Amino acid sequence: MGKKRTERIVFENVKVLDAGAKGVSVAKAPDGKVIFIPNVVPGDVVDVQTMKKRKAYYEGKATVIHQFSEDRVEAVCQHFGACGGCKWQNMNYDKQLFYKNQEVYNNLKRIGKIEMPEFEPILGSEKQFFYRNKMEFGFSNSRWMTDEEVRSGATFEHKNALGFHIPRMWDKILDIEKCHLQQDPSNAIRNEIKAFAVANDLEFYNPRAQEGLLRTLMIRTASTGEIMVLIQFFKEDKAQRELVLDFLAERFPEITSLLYVINGKPNDTIYDQDIKLYKGRDYILEEMEGLHFSINAKSFYQTNSEQAYELYKITRDFAGLTGEELVYDLYTGTGTIAQFVSKKAKKVIGVEAVPEAIADAKENAKRNQITNCEFFVGDMKNVFNDTFIATHGHPDVIITDPPRDGMHKDVVAQILKIAPRRVVYVSCNSATQARDLALLDELYKVVRVRPVDMFPQTHHVENVVLLEKR
Ligand SMILES: C[S@@+](CC[C@H](N)C(=O)[O-])C[C@H]1O[C@@H](n2cnc3c(N)ncnc32)[C@H](O)[C@@H]1O
Repeated sequence: MGKKRTERIVFENVKVLDAGAKGVSVAKAPDGKVIFIPNVVPGDVVDVQTMKKRKAYYEGKATVIHQFSEDRVEAVCQHFGACGGCKWQNMNYDKQLFYKNQEVYNNLKRIGKIEMPEFEPILGSEKQFFYRNKMEFGFSNSRWMTDEEVRSGATFEHKNALGFHIPRMWDKILDIEKCHLQQDPSNAIRNEIKAFAVANDLEFYNPRAQEGLLRTLMIRTASTGEIMVLIQFFKEDKAQRELVLDFLAERFPEITSLLYVINGKPNDTIYDQDIKLYKGRDYILEEMEGLHFSINAKSFYQTNSEQAYELYKITRDFAGLTGEELVYDLYTGTGTIAQFVSKKAKKVIGVEAVPEAIADAKENAKRNQITNCEFFVGDMKNVFNDTFIATHGHPDVIITDPPRDGMHKDVVAQILKIAPRRVVYVSCNSATQARDLALLDELYKVVRVRPVDMFPQTHHVENVVLLEKR
């Protein structure tokens, strides 16, 4: 049985038909089953070798490309293919938007099974590269070797790398020379730290033995020009730590927030760690329509700032505010949407589970001299209850922007119960959004839909839906 599953078959001259979820393309095998194939573009004609066989589908890889699709473009990045980051870089941008739009449409239709208006055109991102304001890189003494390097049999002085994890390989890091996702000086900072660390014999993290010094690097940039850099060390070595941080501070005086963490835990998340300030401020400021938002090392902030502005404008437009409404902003994060719509509302109530985010939201509202926003912390399904509504008022409009899992069914039930006039549903996962829309369908009609692309070169897509009471 096990043997059969891994048996490899080659299908010749298969036409790639579609680009599916998770950025993998789709073709049909001669036996009628679907084949999922990465790194190919709809329209390509390829030979496919199956890697996995399941009851209803195969997973395969293209071994020969006989005919290139008209929608193919040359991937700009030297790391394309090995790096799991930008799977659609070899597809032209218009086609990327087409498939993102199709994904949202299919989910709303098949999962939501709801009546829909014609979609408003998907909003593409003006910047198709260098659009991210936050990147995280890992140090490893176990660099991922390319097939050519392995075949060459060459020996290397060291195997230190600073870059991204190879998909599904927790201990292997692909060394990155140039990443096309974050603006300068992101690449320079990463490459210079690496060169400095190698020149000074500083240890890169060894994930298997769990030892070493340098662990991760986070870079955050803002449209204000402010830059945050955080280095995570596995252990405290004051002299070496200061060597690295002083080098960074001198070489990149434009860094306005230089931070570090000493984390000896097996996992490298910084969210439960004490973050130390080395130089500058412990936050950077982002600006949007004259509002300022402080972002600290742990804050959630939409990673494509320019496109977040477009997303928020669509959200505010869908909300149709006149200045008289009580608005609830559910899953408010650091209260960005709440503050963004506050000028056009009587009052906005933001709710969010992460206490630090709510502290930021309150701080930002103060900084922006906004007095008609209030923020509350807690798990939505517990906080957003009848007592809360009785205390803070019955909302005219609800804006909701839940995480990928969508809304808890109790939250959906509460929206149905209090039945505000309008609901604007912002989602980064149209499948869970469709599930929730199906539940809301008994009371609400979908009147506007507009997908927004926040992440060019990937399959991810954001979607904004306006619901009105029937
Ligand atoms: C997609 S983000 C939206 C953030 C915000 N609207 C923005 O644009 O910056 C989803 C937010 O929901 C919060 N969250 C996740 N689960 C939650 C829950 N059960 N109750 C309340 N908030 C939750 C997350 O912490 C996160 O800030």
